[in-house]
Amino acid sequence: MKIGILSSGGDCPGINATIRGVGKTAIMHYGMDVIGIHSGFIGLLNKDIQAFDERSLSGILNLGGTILGTSREKPFRKMLASGESEKPQIILQNYEELGLDCLVCIGGNGTQKTAGMLSALGMNIVGVPKTIDNDIWGTDITFGFDTAVNIATEAIDRLHSTASSHKRVMVVEVMGHHAGWIALYAGMAGGADVILLPELGYDMEKVNETILNRAHRGKPYSIVVVAEGITTPDKKRPSDYITRAIEEATGIESRDTVLGYIQRGGNPSPFDRNLATRLGGHATELIAKKQFGRMVCMNGEKVESIPLSEVAGKLKLVTPDHDLIIQGKRMGICFGK
Ligand code: F6P
Repeated sequence: MKIGILSSGGDCPGINATIRGVGKTAIMHYGMDVIGIHSGFIGLLNKDIQAFDERSLSGILNLGGTILGTSREKPFRKMLASGESEKPQIILQNYEELGLDCLVCIGGNGTQKTAGMLSALGMNIVGVPKTIDNDIWGTDITFGFDTAVNIATEAIDRLHSTASSHKRVMVVEVMGHHAGWIALYAGMAGGADVILLPELGYDMEKVNETILNRAHRGKPYSIVVVAEGITTPDKKRPSDYITRAIEEATGIESRDTVLGYIQRGGNPSPFDRNLATRLGGHATELIAKKQFGRMVCMNGEKVESIPLSEVAGKLKLVTPDHDLIIQGKRMGICFGK
């Protein structure tokens, strides 16, 4: 068999470990031919590819980013006047001309949706979920998330000492798109006093009350972790709005820090390397068994797979009954309400 691998959407730590997992398993265990496709679906539109052998897949396990490059190209998005996009047809034609038996799509929600649509067009597709946001429906966890949580937690740890020295409120904004997973996990691991998640909403009065109560209890500084996806009355960055609102209402000097792309860059954690390796290996096993149109996923400790058609258009969000929220609330942490 001949398979192609592409990474699409925002990069995240662990993509290279996946490429290695898929590629080495395919070449060494199943005797398949493997090509890499550059820059996500753009590479499939332009036939921008490279052949992989075992040696070219060495030394990438611990590398951040993706050696294949990525893009946010969505071939089904731009419809022509006729209501049809020509890009999917070009992709289908190139897939056939390249002699591919299967395409492995490593990506987040948008990528898995595109993968499902290509599968419906008749291409053999296997999806591998990736995102630091951990918001892909159908899998308990995605690689990239653990690394991002480690980075954000270290940042929060560092903010504690400067917050305490200056008796300030430190607001730190973390990524996560519409989901609050990074904010919840890094906020709890970093000992935040207030954690605001898009899923729960917030009442500014409760936030201010928490900070003032701490000050009255002899704790003149506070750490507030804000997910980038929370809504605010203005169009500014959420951390900007929250910081100003806290300072105005409490009179306590407040500063904000936006962690941004630091959360996505650099080496994957050992946990993410192993998760990516397992998912990559299982993706290749699905191909060998000709089980196409599916996405590999984690169900507890087990690697399983689900139909791509089930994943499309859904998000895995934090729910209010998450144990970290329940335990956090009991310990006086404010979740905005
Ligand atoms: O989905 C991953 C992510 O890093 C989100 O957390 C963030 O909102 C978004 O991508 C940023 O995307 P871009 O790379 O397009 O700026």
